[in-house]
Amino acid sequence: MNQVDCTIIENRELTRGNFLLTLRVPRQFSKPQPGQFVHLRLSTDGEPLLRRPYSLEGFFERGRIRAIRIYYSVVGRGSRILSMHPKGRELDLIGPLGVGFQISRKKKTSLLVAGGRGVAPLLFLARRLRERKRPHVFLFGAKSKYELYGYRDVRGGRLHLATDDGSVGYHGSVLDLLQREWEEAGHTPDTAEIFTCGPHGLLHAVADFARDRGVRCEASLEGPMACGVGACRGCPIPLRPEHDGAGYPAMCVEGPVYDATAVDWERLP
Ligand SMILES: Cc1cc2nc3c(=O)[nH]c(=O)nc-3n(C[C@H](O)[C@H](O)[C@H](O)COP(=O)(O)OP(=O)(O)OC[C@H]3O[C@@H](n4cnc5c(N)ncnc54)[C@H](O)[C@@H]3O)c2cc1C
Ligand code: FES
Repeated sequence: MNQVDCTIIENRELTRGNFLLTLRVPRQFSKPQPGQFVHLRLSTDGEPLLRRPYSLEGFFERGRIRAIRIYYSVVGRGSRILSMHPKGRELDLIGPLGVGFQISRKKKTSLLVAGGRGVAPLLFLARRLRERKRPHVFLFGAKSKYELYGYRDVRGGRLHLATDDGSVGYHGSVLDLLQREWEEAGHTPDTAEIFTCGPHGLLHAVADFARDRGVRCEASLEGPMACGVGACRGCPIPLRPEHDGAGYPAMCVEGPVYDATAVDWERLP
Protein backbone atom coordinates (compact mmCIF):
# COMPACT_ATOMS: atom_id res chain seq x y z
CA MET A 1 0.00 0.00 0.00
CA ASN A 2 1.29 3.46 -0.95
CA GLN A 3 0.12 7.04 -1.03
CA VAL A 4 0.75 8.29 -4.56
CA ASP A 5 -0.19 11.06 -6.94
CA CYS A 6 -1.96 9.84 -10.03
CA THR A 7 -3.17 11.62 -13.17
CA ILE A 8 -6.54 11.38 -14.88
CA ILE A 9 -6.15 9.89 -18.36
CA GLU A 10 -9.89 9.72 -18.96
CA ASN A 11 -13.06 10.46 -16.97
CA ARG A 12 -15.92 9.61 -19.27
CA GLU A 13 -19.68 9.42 -18.68
CA LEU A 14 -20.80 6.11 -20.20
CA THR A 15 -24.46 6.24 -19.30
CA ARG A 16 -26.34 8.84 -17.28
CA GLY A 17 -24.50 9.22 -13.95
CA ASN A 18 -22.12 6.31 -14.54
CA PHE A 19 -18.49 7.08 -15.30
CA LEU A 20 -15.34 5.24 -16.27
CA LEU A 21 -12.23 6.77 -14.70
CA THR A 22 -8.76 5.83 -15.93
CA LEU A 23 -5.85 6.96 -13.78
CA ARG A 24 -2.19 6.78 -14.58
CA VAL A 25 -0.36 5.56 -11.47
CA PRO A 26 3.37 5.69 -10.73
CA ARG A 27 5.61 2.61 -10.43
CA GLN A 28 5.34 2.73 -6.60
CA PHE A 29 1.71 1.66 -6.94
CA SER A 30 2.03 -2.08 -6.46
CA LYS A 31 0.23 -4.57 -8.64
CA PRO A 32 -3.31 -4.94 -7.20
CA GLN A 33 -5.43 -8.07 -6.80
CA PRO A 34 -9.03 -8.17 -8.08
CA GLY A 35 -11.28 -7.13 -5.21
CA GLN A 36 -8.83 -4.63 -3.72
CA PHE A 37 -9.72 -0.95 -3.65
CA VAL A 38 -8.17 2.51 -3.61
CA HIS A 39 -8.97 5.43 -1.33
CA LEU A 40 -9.21 8.67 -3.33
CA ARG A 41 -8.94 12.25 -2.16
CA LEU A 42 -11.39 13.94 -4.47
CA SER A 43 -10.36 17.56 -4.10
CA THR A 44 -7.49 19.68 -2.83
CA ASP A 45 -9.60 22.21 -0.93
CA GLY A 46 -10.54 19.76 1.84
CA GLU A 47 -14.16 19.37 0.70
CA PRO A 48 -15.17 16.60 1.11
CA LEU A 49 -12.71 16.01 3.90
CA LEU A 50 -12.75 12.23 3.81
CA ARG A 51 -11.39 10.11 1.00
CA ARG A 52 -13.80 7.89 -0.93
CA PRO A 53 -13.18 4.15 -1.51
CA TYR A 54 -13.47 2.65 -5.01
CA SER A 55 -12.92 -0.91 -6.22
CA LEU A 56 -10.57 -1.46 -9.10
CA GLU A 57 -12.19 -2.41 -12.37
CA GLY A 58 -8.79 -3.13 -13.86
CA PHE A 59 -5.05 -2.68 -13.78
CA PHE A 60 -3.11 -2.26 -17.04
CA GLU A 61 0.57 -2.07 -17.90
CA ARG A 62 1.80 -0.96 -21.31
CA GLY A 63 5.51 -0.36 -21.55
CA ARG A 64 6.37 2.05 -18.74
CA ILE A 65 2.78 3.16 -18.24
CA ARG A 66 0.69 1.76 -15.40
CA ALA A 67 -2.99 2.57 -15.15
CA ILE A 68 -6.00 1.63 -13.06
CA ARG A 69 -9.65 1.85 -13.98
CA ILE A 70 -12.64 2.65 -11.78
CA TYR A 71 -16.30 2.42 -12.75
CA TYR A 72 -18.32 4.75 -10.53
CA SER A 73 -21.75 6.28 -10.10
CA VAL A 74 -22.58 9.80 -9.02
CA VAL A 75 -24.49 9.38 -5.76
CA GLY A 76 -23.48 12.39 -3.66
CA ARG A 77 -21.09 15.27 -3.12
CA GLY A 78 -17.78 13.48 -3.55
CA SER A 79 -18.66 11.52 -6.65
CA ARG A 80 -20.20 14.64 -8.22
CA ILE A 81 -16.92 16.50 -7.70
CA LEU A 82 -15.03 13.52 -9.12
CA SER A 83 -17.23 13.49 -12.22
CA MET A 84 -16.23 17.09 -13.01
CA HIS A 85 -12.48 16.53 -12.97
CA PRO A 86 -10.91 16.89 -16.43
CA LYS A 87 -8.20 14.86 -18.10
CA GLY A 88 -4.75 15.77 -16.75
CA ARG A 89 -5.97 16.55 -13.23
CA GLU A 90 -3.89 15.04 -10.40
CA LEU A 91 -5.47 13.09 -7.57
CA ASP A 92 -4.00 11.79 -4.34
CA LEU A 93 -4.64 8.09 -3.83
CA ILE A 94 -3.88 5.41 -1.23
CA GLY A 95 -3.76 1.82 -2.37
CA PRO A 96 -4.10 -0.88 -3.27
CA LEU A 97 -5.99 -1.57 -0.04
CA GLY A 98 -7.82 -4.46 1.56
CA VAL A 99 -8.02 -8.14 0.76
CA GLY A 100 -9.09 -9.24 -2.71
CA PHE A 101 -10.71 -12.39 -4.07
CA GLN A 102 -8.91 -15.67 -3.43
CA ILE A 103 -9.13 -18.13 -6.31
CA SER A 104 -8.96 -21.75 -5.08
CA ARG A 105 -5.80 -23.66 -5.85
CA LYS A 106 -7.96 -26.57 -6.90
CA LYS A 107 -9.22 -26.03 -10.43
CA LYS A 108 -12.88 -25.16 -9.99
CA THR A 109 -15.35 -23.34 -12.20
CA SER A 110 -15.78 -19.80 -10.91
CA LEU A 111 -19.33 -18.50 -10.98
CA LEU A 112 -19.18 -14.70 -10.99
CA VAL A 113 -22.45 -13.09 -9.88
CA ALA A 114 -22.61 -9.34 -10.50
CA GLY A 115 -25.38 -6.89 -9.65
CA GLY A 116 -25.38 -3.35 -11.12
CA ARG A 117 -22.14 -1.46 -10.68
CA GLY A 118 -20.87 -4.32 -8.49
CA VAL A 119 -19.72 -5.68 -11.84
CA ALA A 120 -16.49 -3.63 -11.63
CA PRO A 121 -14.26 -5.86 -9.44
CA LEU A 122 -15.68 -8.97 -11.12
CA LEU A 123 -14.58 -7.75 -14.55
CA PHE A 124 -11.08 -7.46 -13.09
CA LEU A 125 -11.40 -10.96 -11.64
CA ALA A 126 -12.67 -12.37 -14.96
CA ARG A 127 -9.56 -11.03 -16.74
CA ARG A 128 -7.37 -12.72 -14.11
CA LEU A 129 -9.24 -16.02 -14.51
CA ARG A 130 -8.81 -15.81 -18.27
CA GLU A 131 -5.04 -15.20 -17.89
CA ARG A 132 -4.87 -18.30 -15.70
CA LYS A 133 -7.03 -20.29 -18.11
CA ARG A 134 -9.51 -21.05 -15.34
CA PRO A 135 -13.08 -21.94 -16.35
CA HIS A 136 -15.63 -19.32 -15.37
CA VAL A 137 -19.21 -18.26 -15.96
CA PHE A 138 -20.20 -14.60 -15.75
CA LEU A 139 -23.74 -13.89 -14.54
CA PHE A 140 -24.66 -10.22 -14.65
CA GLY A 141 -27.93 -8.59 -13.65
CA ALA A 142 -28.94 -4.93 -13.73
CA LYS A 143 -32.07 -2.79 -13.74
CA SER A 144 -31.92 -2.23 -17.51
CA LYS A 145 -29.63 -2.52 -20.53
CA TYR A 146 -28.29 0.98 -19.73
CA GLU A 147 -26.64 -0.36 -16.57
CA LEU A 148 -25.02 -3.40 -18.15
CA TYR A 149 -21.52 -2.02 -18.19
CA GLY A 150 -18.47 -3.87 -19.48
CA TYR A 151 -19.94 -7.26 -20.35
CA ARG A 152 -18.66 -7.09 -23.93
CA ASP A 153 -15.17 -7.42 -22.45
CA VAL A 154 -16.02 -10.80 -20.92
CA ARG A 155 -14.18 -13.38 -23.01
CA GLY A 156 -13.00 -16.86 -22.31
CA GLY A 157 -15.99 -17.75 -20.18
CA ARG A 158 -19.72 -18.11 -20.66
CA LEU A 159 -21.84 -14.98 -20.15
CA HIS A 160 -25.51 -14.70 -19.08
CA LEU A 161 -27.33 -11.39 -18.69
CA ALA A 162 -30.49 -10.48 -16.78
CA THR A 163 -32.40 -7.21 -16.54
CA ASP A 164 -35.27 -6.23 -14.25
CA ASP A 165 -37.12 -4.62 -17.17
CA GLY A 166 -36.33 -7.36 -19.70
CA SER A 167 -34.56 -4.90 -22.05
CA VAL A 168 -31.70 -7.39 -22.56
CA GLY A 169 -31.22 -11.04 -21.62
CA TYR A 170 -33.33 -12.89 -19.08
CA HIS A 171 -36.26 -10.87 -17.70
CA GLY A 172 -35.71 -11.20 -13.95
CA SER A 173 -33.08 -11.58 -11.29
CA VAL A 174 -29.49 -12.70 -11.70
CA LEU A 175 -30.22 -15.04 -8.80
CA ASP A 176 -32.49 -17.04 -11.12
CA LEU A 177 -29.58 -17.28 -13.56
CA LEU A 178 -27.37 -18.63 -10.78
CA GLN A 179 -29.96 -21.23 -9.82
CA ARG A 180 -30.38 -22.29 -13.46
CA GLU A 181 -26.62 -22.42 -14.13
CA TRP A 182 -26.10 -24.50 -10.97
CA GLU A 183 -28.74 -27.06 -11.91
CA GLU A 184 -28.17 -27.28 -15.66
CA ALA A 185 -24.36 -27.53 -15.46
CA GLY A 186 -24.53 -29.94 -12.51
CA HIS A 187 -22.06 -27.94 -10.40
CA THR A 188 -21.13 -29.23 -6.94
CA PRO A 189 -19.14 -27.68 -4.04
CA ASP A 190 -16.20 -29.75 -5.28
CA THR A 191 -16.27 -28.37 -8.79
CA ALA A 192 -17.45 -24.76 -8.40
CA GLU A 193 -17.01 -21.64 -6.29
CA ILE A 194 -18.88 -18.33 -6.29
CA PHE A 195 -17.64 -14.73 -6.35
CA THR A 196 -20.17 -11.94 -6.02
CA CYS A 197 -20.49 -8.17 -5.78
CA GLY A 198 -23.51 -5.89 -5.93
CA PRO A 199 -26.28 -4.56 -3.68
CA HIS A 200 -26.22 -6.15 -0.21
CA GLY A 201 -29.67 -7.70 -0.76
CA LEU A 202 -28.26 -9.67 -3.68
CA LEU A 203 -25.12 -10.64 -1.76
CA HIS A 204 -27.27 -11.87 1.14
CA ALA A 205 -29.33 -14.03 -1.23
CA VAL A 206 -26.22 -15.42 -2.94
CA ALA A 207 -24.69 -16.17 0.49
CA ASP A 208 -27.85 -18.11 1.48
CA PHE A 209 -27.73 -19.99 -1.83
CA ALA A 210 -24.08 -20.92 -1.16
CA ARG A 211 -24.64 -21.94 2.48
CA ASP A 212 -27.58 -24.19 1.52
CA ARG A 213 -25.33 -26.05 -0.93
CA GLY A 214 -22.08 -25.93 1.07
CA VAL A 215 -20.27 -24.12 -1.72
CA ARG A 216 -17.39 -21.72 -1.19
CA CYS A 217 -18.53 -18.12 -1.81
CA GLU A 218 -16.75 -14.79 -1.53
CA ALA A 219 -18.54 -11.43 -1.58
CA SER A 220 -17.11 -7.95 -1.98
CA LEU A 221 -18.94 -5.53 0.34
CA GLU A 222 -19.43 -1.78 0.30
CA GLY A 223 -20.15 0.57 3.16
CA PRO A 224 -19.11 3.83 4.72
CA MET A 225 -15.39 4.23 5.44
CA ALA A 226 -13.24 6.92 7.01
CA CYS A 227 -9.49 6.25 7.31
CA GLY A 228 -9.45 3.19 5.03
CA VAL A 229 -6.39 1.73 6.76
CA GLY A 230 -7.70 0.12 9.95
CA ALA A 231 -7.00 3.04 12.33
CA CYS A 232 -10.47 4.42 13.18
CA ARG A 233 -12.50 1.18 13.56
CA GLY A 234 -15.23 2.92 11.57
CA CYS A 235 -16.10 0.09 9.17
CA PRO A 236 -16.96 -2.99 11.28
CA ILE A 237 -18.57 -6.00 9.58
CA PRO A 238 -20.72 -8.24 11.82
CA LEU A 239 -20.07 -11.97 11.48
CA ARG A 240 -22.50 -14.80 12.21
CA PRO A 241 -22.39 -16.16 15.80
CA GLU A 242 -20.31 -19.23 14.84
CA HIS A 243 -17.65 -16.87 13.42
CA ASP A 244 -17.97 -14.25 16.20
CA GLY A 245 -14.57 -15.19 17.64
CA ALA A 246 -13.17 -13.01 14.89
CA GLY A 247 -15.02 -9.99 16.39
CA TYR A 248 -16.03 -7.25 13.98
CA PRO A 249 -13.35 -7.29 11.31
CA ALA A 250 -12.66 -3.89 9.73
CA MET A 251 -13.86 -3.89 6.16
CA CYS A 252 -10.98 -1.72 4.96
CA VAL A 253 -8.29 -4.13 6.21
CA GLU A 254 -9.85 -7.59 6.49
CA GLY A 255 -12.29 -6.95 3.62
CA PRO A 256 -13.85 -5.75 1.46
CA VAL A 257 -13.95 -9.37 0.28
CA TYR A 258 -15.34 -11.82 2.85
CA ASP A 259 -16.47 -15.40 3.05
CA ALA A 260 -20.10 -14.54 2.24
CA THR A 261 -21.46 -17.33 4.43
CA ALA A 262 -19.66 -15.88 7.51
CA VAL A 263 -21.20 -12.40 7.23
CA ASP A 264 -24.23 -11.71 9.44
CA TRP A 265 -26.28 -10.00 6.73
CA GLU A 266 -29.18 -9.29 9.11
CA ARG A 267 -26.94 -7.18 11.35
CA LEU A 268 -25.14 -5.36 8.56
CA PRO A 269 -25.76 -1.59 8.99
C1 LIG B 1 -14.64 -1.15 -0.77
C2 LIG B 1 -15.56 -0.25 -1.52
C3 LIG B 1 -15.57 -0.25 -2.91
C4 LIG B 1 -16.42 0.60 -3.61
N1 LIG B 1 -16.39 0.56 -4.97
C5 LIG B 1 -17.18 1.37 -5.68
C6 LIG B 1 -17.15 1.35 -7.11
O1 LIG B 1 -16.40 0.59 -7.74
N2 LIG B 1 -17.97 2.22 -7.77
C7 LIG B 1 -18.81 3.08 -7.11
O2 LIG B 1 -19.54 3.85 -7.74
N3 LIG B 1 -18.87 3.10 -5.75
C8 LIG B 1 -18.07 2.28 -5.04
N4 LIG B 1 -18.11 2.32 -3.66
C9 LIG B 1 -19.03 3.25 -3.03
C10 LIG B 1 -18.42 4.65 -3.01
O3 LIG B 1 -17.36 4.68 -2.10
C11 LIG B 1 -19.49 5.65 -2.62
O4 LIG B 1 -20.45 5.71 -3.65
C12 LIG B 1 -18.88 7.03 -2.44
O5 LIG B 1 -18.10 7.04 -1.27
C13 LIG B 1 -19.97 8.04 -2.33
O6 LIG B 1 -19.39 9.27 -2.05
P1 LIG B 1 -20.22 10.61 -2.27
O7 LIG B 1 -19.48 11.71 -1.58
O8 LIG B 1 -20.54 10.80 -3.70
O9 LIG B 1 -21.58 10.31 -1.55
P2 LIG B 1 -22.00 10.76 -0.09
O10 LIG B 1 -22.42 12.21 -0.17
O11 LIG B 1 -20.95 10.40 0.88
O12 LIG B 1 -23.24 9.83 0.11
C14 LIG B 1 -24.36 9.90 -0.80
C15 LIG B 1 -25.32 8.77 -0.50
O13 LIG B 1 -24.68 7.52 -0.77
C16 LIG B 1 -24.66 6.71 0.41
N5 LIG B 1 -23.36 6.04 0.45
C17 LIG B 1 -22.14 6.61 0.60
N6 LIG B 1 -21.18 5.68 0.57
C18 LIG B 1 -21.81 4.49 0.41
C19 LIG B 1 -21.38 3.17 0.30
N7 LIG B 1 -20.10 2.81 0.35
N8 LIG B 1 -22.30 2.18 0.16
C20 LIG B 1 -23.59 2.48 0.11
N9 LIG B 1 -24.07 3.73 0.20
C21 LIG B 1 -23.19 4.72 0.34
C22 LIG B 1 -24.81 7.67 1.57
O14 LIG B 1 -25.44 7.06 2.68
C23 LIG B 1 -25.73 8.72 0.96
O15 LIG B 1 -27.07 8.31 0.99
C24 LIG B 1 -17.28 1.48 -2.93
C25 LIG B 1 -17.29 1.49 -1.53
C26 LIG B 1 -16.45 0.63 -0.84
C27 LIG B 1 -16.45 0.65 0.65
S1 FES C 1 -12.31 3.00 7.73
FE1 FES C 1 -11.08 3.32 9.48
S2 FES C 1 -10.88 1.30 10.24
FE2 FES C 1 -11.86 1.02 8.34
